[in-house]
Order: sequence, then structure tokens, then C-alpha cells
Amino acid sequence: MPESVSITDNRTGKSTEIPITDGGVDSGPWSRLLPGIWFSDPSFGTTSGADSAVTEVDGDKGYLRYRGYPIEQLAEECSFLEVAYLLITGELPNGDQLEGWQTEIAEAALIHENFHKRILEGFRDDAHATGVLVSTVAALSTFFPESRDIQDPANRRRQIVRLIAKMPTLAASAYRRSVGTPYVLPDPELDYTENFLSMMFRPGEVAFEADPVLRQALDLLFVLHADHGQNCSTTAGRVVGSSHADPYLAVSAACAALSGPRHGGANEAVLRMLEEIGSYDKVDEFIRAVKAGERRLMGFGHRVYKNYDPRARIIKEAAHRVFEVTGKNPLLDMALKLEEVALADDYFVDRRLYPNVDFYSGLIYQSMGFPVEMFTVLFAIGRTPGWLAHWDEMLEQNSRIARPRQIYIGPAERDVPLIAHR
Ligand code: ACO
Repeated sequence: MPESVSITDNRTGKSTEIPITDGGVDSGPWSRLLPGIWFSDPSFGTTSGADSAVTEVDGDKGYLRYRGYPIEQLAEECSFLEVAYLLITGELPNGDQLEGWQTEIAEAALIHENFHKRILEGFRDDAHATGVLVSTVAALSTFFPESRDIQDPANRRRQIVRLIAKMPTLAASAYRRSVGTPYVLPDPELDYTENFLSMMFRPGEVAFEADPVLRQALDLLFVLHADHGQNCSTTAGRVVGSSHADPYLAVSAACAALSGPRHGGANEAVLRMLEEIGSYDKVDEFIRAVKAGERRLMGFGHRVYKNYDPRARIIKEAAHRVFEVTGKNPLLDMALKLEEVALADDYFVDRRLYPNVDFYSGLIYQSMGFPVEMFTVLFAIGRTPGWLAHWDEMLEQNSRIARPRQIYIGPAERDVPLIAHR
């Protein structure tokens, strides 16, 4: 059987055969056969926007691999910075490479003093942390004007290091500003995740030591969030990057896309949903409202996974380890019951809706002491290497500017009436 598809234009009888390559078909022959007839796919449900070697997700089988490595093995064996190196360079680092990479990142973590004084201080006290992050990442663009030279791979790499290094500093500074406590500078002696925890929670000059179980759990969460193929935020970053905007602006766009409750904002939405449900005995009533279309079960469902999200399984296990240190999150029982009821209910079974990465992550973050407004920012820290790996890969491939077509459904040409006649 030929590995191809044939398309026939029934108006003309002309036909074209398109080979199936790596599970896709090239749109070129389609557009040559049917000029001006666009493929209608507004949410890109069946459109591949990239040839990518970064991450493989199979939603039916329920697996996720970064550069070929199963997420379960990476979660078990590797730190977040090892995974970041893997995503950016394509290979896991050896001992020397990891040491060099950690040093590079640690040395780039500081942000300019003006940044705290002039930019962060300008936000309202109740500014949402995600909005602050989106704006401050974009503001970094003005501190590094040389980043506009996106054609030079060495220059791109310098910005990649800076962005991975500075995201925790920006995030922790946004938090400190919101609670009115003095900023804590990055400490190059600490590892990436411990340094972030120190910048977040260190009480003034007193030495800070993170609980190793919590540090390890947060590092694991960063690993699990580090990439996920052409998701909404990565696509947003790529679209902006395809115009050759600098990487700070592309990552800021990715952060903005992440913020919505359908995407990375779901971890915050899950917590708010659990708080609103309020008690274990209200779960059935909430599920009824979801089935009636009045509510949405946040943290459930995924465009790609039609099977249990492998990240959710790992996070659920990690949650129990964290709760041994922090005490059980009182919302956990409700979350477990929601999952149990949903997984046994035809509405969710028929639609193949399972818990996603955001269902349990918020419970962990909350137990660690992060305010709800920081949850999506934590996701953004983890996803930054993924965004940058895709941005770099796209520029390496010398891609064209992203520019979809539209199917015009508005009025035909008409004359502008005089204002008195409108
Ligand atoms: N609760 C209730 N019903 C749902 C849910 C949900 N969470 N998710 C999907 N459905 C229903 C839809 O209403 C639809 O039902 P219908 O066929 O009767 O119309 C059916 O399941 C198919 O869903 P789609 O809307 O086609 O799914 P889509 O791929 O467009 O959306 C999304 C995926 C946005 C993730 C959706 O499942 C959702 O809103 N989930 C809740 C928010 C969430 O947890 N987002 C995080 C995703 S993971 C991430 O981005 C990191």
C-alpha cells in the first residue's frame, strides 16, 4: 500500500498525490493544486507547525520524551539544569559540562539594580505575579539590545543562558515586592532551585536552608514542566520569534500565552476551584454542574493526551512525599475524590478526560508556601528552557515568518455611507 494520500479537485478533475513523511503530509502540493483554498483549522488541531527534534508526545499511548528520553527516567535521574541542557543542546551533559553549565547559569542570575528600583517598584501592590513576569521579561529586552542579533548562534546561546538564569530572580523579586519584603540577591553558592527558594523565602540576612525534600520536589516539578512540544505558549513564542523579534520579547509572549486558565493558568484555577467546592461532600454536586456544562473541571482534559498525563502520575506521587514534610494539604482529599468520581463517570470516560499536569501541582506549591498567584510563574520558570529550545531550533532551520491565512466570512465590498445616513 503506498504511503501517500491523493487529493482530487472535483471541479477540474485534477489530482495530486502527496507522500506521508514522518506522519505528516506537505501542504505545498495541496496549495499548488488548490490555490486560494485554505485548510480550515483555527486551533491547529490537525496542523503541524514545526519539524522538531525536541520533544515527542504521544497522547493516545500517554508518553512524553525529551530528546528521546522518557520523562519517568529524567524525573528519576536528572536535575532541572541537566534537563535544560538536554533540551537546549540535544544531549545530556557529562560531569564537566554540567559543572560549566551550572556556573554559567549561576553567574547570569543577577538583574540590574535599576530593574528593582525603576521597573518593579512601578507595579501596583496587588499586581498579579504572572502579569509582572510577562512585563519584566519583556523589559529585559531593553537591558540587552544586542539580543536582537538572532542570526548569530553564539549570541543566541548567551541570551538563552541569561533567560534561564534570570527567570527565578524575576519571579522571586515580583513576590518580594508584592509582600513588601526586601529583595534577596541570587547566591551563586546555591544550586538553581535552592537559590530560587532562598530568594523567595529567606528572612532577611538570616542564613536559609531549604528542606531537601521540598527542594527536590520543586526541582522535579521544573523537570516535568520543561517542555511539551508545540503547546499554546511555545507556539506563541515561536510565532513572535518567527518575525525575528528578540528572545526576551518572544519568551514574554510565551509567558502571556501560558497565563490563561486553559493552559498554565490552570494550576491556579484548580486551587480556586477546590477552595470554592469547599468540602468533600460537595464534590458530587460540582461534578453534576460540570456535566450540565455549567462548570469546567480544571486540571482535567488535554488537547493531546487522551490518556492519563504521565506528568500527573509523577506529580501525584511527589505530592505525598511533600505532605510528609509539610502536613497533608487539606484540599487533597477533595482532589482525590474529584479524580475518582470523574474517572468512573461516562461523561469523562467518553471524552477521554484525565487529570493533567496542573491537577495536583498547585496542591504541592501551596503546601510549600507559594501564594496561588505565583503558581503560573513557577510553571513559566520550568518551561523557559523548552520555549528557548524551540525558538533556537526554529531559527536554526531558517524558517519563514508565521503567517496563517484566513477564510473571509465578512461582508462583500460596499460603499461607505455619509455619517448622517448611518
Ligand atoms: N471539564 C469538563 N469538560 C471538558 C473539560 C473539562 N476540563 N475539558 C474538555 N471537556 C469536554 C468539552 O466540553 C468537550 O465536550 P463536548 O464534546 O460535549 O463539546 C470535550 O470534552 C472535548 O474537549 P475540547 O474542548 O475539544 O478539548 P480541547 O482540546 O479543545 O481543550 C483543554 C483542551 C483546553 C485543556 C480543556 O480540556 C480544558 O479546558 N481543560 C481545563 C483547563 C486545564 O486544565 N488546562 C490545562 C491543560 S494542560 C496545560 O496546558 C499545561
